[in-house]
Amino acid sequence: MIDKIVFATGNEGKIKEIKEILADFSVEVVSMKEMNISTDVEENGTTFEENSLIKARAISKLTGLPALADDSGLEVDYLNGEPGIYSARYLGYDTDYEYKNNYIINRLKEAKVTERTARFVCVISLVLPDGREFVKKGVMEGQIGYEIKGENGFGYDPIFYLPKYGKTSAELSSDEKNKISHRGKALRGMKEVIVSL
Ligand code: IMP
Repeated sequence: MIDKIVFATGNEGKIKEIKEILADFSVEVVSMKEMNISTDVEENGTTFEENSLIKARAISKLTGLPALADDSGLEVDYLNGEPGIYSARYLGYDTDYEYKNNYIINRLKEAKVTERTARFVCVISLVLPDGREFVKKGVMEGQIGYEIKGENGFGYDPIFYLPKYGKTSAELSSDEKNKISHRGKALRGMKEVIVSL
């Protein structure tokens, strides 16, 4: 039974999400900020799995606590899986998403509807101080839209069109998105693991 987990992210939105998902369960999730740690772990893996494990291993080693870390991104089939693990750094970390999103739409100018398939992927890893490692993956399938639409969410949400909803993921409320999102699925998968430890 574990009672305290550190989440290896500086992203307050992600901390809030995991705290909500684990709220009914007696495990305390603390952020790196709450633990007064700031460290920049180099994400030099070649897959989402490797990158999330690299971060979780480093933070578990540093704190002596169970550590959770995630890695996520957008895979566009027409672009051979780009931006993938480079989603945050795509076209430069500081480049705004309006530019990144327009760039992707432009690269898909010639793509037919059936060629516009894409997915958001999220992998969450849990590393325990005794060396045990657990990995959970969540995927949300969709298409690259023809225009930027919606004000919610972040990053590539405004171009990620969900045919079933007739909306982009930036047009869903955060509750609606959490139910179907890659991150929501991976987090709920990891909750099963945490509850069983
Ligand atoms: P990470 O924080 O290293 O996992 O970076 C993931 C990057 O992938 C983000 O900076 C976004 O560009 C993109 N991304 C991941 N999940 C989402 C999502 O739910 N909506 C929009 N963009 C996302």
